[in-house]
Amino acid sequence: MKMILDLDTGVDDTLAIAYALGSPEVDLIGITGTYGNVLMEQGVRNALAITELLGHPEVPVYKGLPHASTKDSFEVMPISAFIHGENGIGDVDIPDATRDAQTDSAVDFIIDAAKTYGKDLVIVPTGPQTNLAAALRKAPEIKDEIGREVLMGGALTVPGNVNAWTEANISQDPDAANFVFRSGIPATMVGLDVTLQTLLTYKETQRWRDLGTAAGKALADITDFYIKAYETTAPYLGGCGLHDPLAVGVAVDPTLVTLLPINMKVDVEGATRGRTIGNEEELTNPVKTMDVAVGVDVPRFLNEFMTRITNLAAQ
Ligand code: BDR
Ligand code: CA
Repeated sequence: MKMILDLDTGVDDTLAIAYALGSPEVDLIGITGTYGNVLMEQGVRNALAITELLGHPEVPVYKGLPHASTKDSFEVMPISAFIHGENGIGDVDIPDATRDAQTDSAVDFIIDAAKTYGKDLVIVPTGPQTNLAAALRKAPEIKDEIGREVLMGGALTVPGNVNAWTEANISQDPDAANFVFRSGIPATMVGLDVTLQTLLTYKETQRWRDLGTAAGKALADITDFYIKAYETTAPYLGGCGLHDPLAVGVAVDPTLVTLLPINMKVDVEGATRGRTIGNEEELTNPVKTMDVAVGVDVPRFLNEFMTRITNLAAQ
């Protein structure tokens, strides 16, 4: 399959890149940059550097929109810097990339890729869906051309992680998420319902460090920063949430999760702005364009995650 990762490249976005690059089923045709864990420009720098560190300088990286269309600017929240580091990659120093971002925009790249690859294309947003919403507004026909969107975001059966009703990625641009969900694009929502069940500990990151490679050490150091933050913000979990790599895992193999077909919407007004919830107008529509992951085979996913990323980092 052809894959586009749309990332606000923080720590788990980095692990999503590693999962995709470690998957023989995936041809990663590009990374598009969004904002959230870091500013869009910093996320793009991180994606360029991480792909090179992992031995894949051929992956093109595109700059996306720097903030939601309803806002004039975007500022990184202090909690994001606490969880992902000021630089988004656990304040670990890795070599700067030797190449630059592409000159085409992320939005145009997404549209062109949909037209070129059609049903073979999967887009995996692991930040706010601002870029995909803009692509769908500019070229609405791509909703029928793209194979599927598999997004990390939202929560159906559990509370949010920003507040009781909002998950971080959706909270950054609820209007974009609502537009994408209601557009009719085939979409799978991989939200907190499942991503907070897939946890990583220092034991696994040590395996990467033990490889004795630059990539293994960097991935271990970057992820340890994130595990440490989870020890403060969610000590009851006993590890860090593998949010973004699980979305890649589901794109590669949907049988890793139990899927509930249900057309979703996002509350864009009132006190619950940012809540992902079933679209009541669509509940009796037999045509479901969306699935929500409501269960996950944790041991199988963790095994896939470790095998793919360890093999990649060993090279
Ligand atoms: C999501 O928010 C971001 O901080 C993470 O990278 C992930 O995409 C989890 O709610
Ligand atoms: Ca992310």
